[in-house]
Amino acid sequence: MEIIIQPDRESASLLAAAKIARLVREKPHAVLGLATGGSPLDVYGELVRLHREGRADFAYVTTFNLDEYLGLPGAHPASYRHFMQEHLFRHINIPSGNTHIPEGLTEDVPEACKQYEEAIRQAGGIDLQLLGIGTDGHIGFNEPSSSLASRTRIKSLTEQTQQDNRRFFQPGEHVPRHVITMGVGTIMEAREIVLLAFGANKAEAVAATVEGPITASVPASILQMHPAAKIILDEEAAGELKRADYYRSVFASKPAWQQI
Ligand code: PGA
Repeated sequence: MEIIIQPDRESASLLAAAKIARLVREKPHAVLGLATGGSPLDVYGELVRLHREGRADFAYVTTFNLDEYLGLPGAHPASYRHFMQEHLFRHINIPSGNTHIPEGLTEDVPEACKQYEEAIRQAGGIDLQLLGIGTDGHIGFNEPSSSLASRTRIKSLTEQTQQDNRRFFQPGEHVPRHVITMGVGTIMEAREIVLLAFGANKAEAVAATVEGPITASVPASILQMHPAAKIILDEEAAGELKRADYYRSVFASKPAWQQI
């Protein structure tokens, strides 16, 4: 794992966006794994800016999102399909048929999950997977106790995650309990992983992920086994790391071309 500590969310997001833009330039048919939530918002903003400046072309890119709420139609303002449309897809030149998000209204969940896995395989696998992290250490919606070998499937959210995500819903609106999420095993097959975490409320989960034991109680900790995972943090999210000075010095001593 490479731990990159940046002064703030903005510089961390620019770094992640630069990495994605470089991948898309070098590999126009790249397959991106995308995330929703607060963490990737500035990354998407920067990708939109780069696209407008003619520095990021998504005409041949394919995307797979991590997860979706079961029971929410794509038009629902809190659905992840809607989130992606609003924050990224409608601002760039990606063909809508190239964007994949688990189907929240499916009648046959196991079949939809099988097809999602199959679509990822058919696309040639995910080149780069963007991740946030839950305050409980989840990645995608793989809550604590998720099998570290799991595939795309239905999951039940913890109370904590439902609470954390309430801010994306109208006051009084029910936050769905059930979701479809890529599995931890699915995520681990991505060729590269970039996990973003910002703010003090992520510090404990980040420390457990980076410096704790590998355990299904902290699903993100499996990233210790990934050969090409970058953990990009602001100072607050790095606040509980014991070896923060070491990570800073490693990154500072890299030549610029190796920093993204
Ligand atoms: P957040 O969520 O980016 O909204 O903090 C991250 C997650 O739950 O994975």
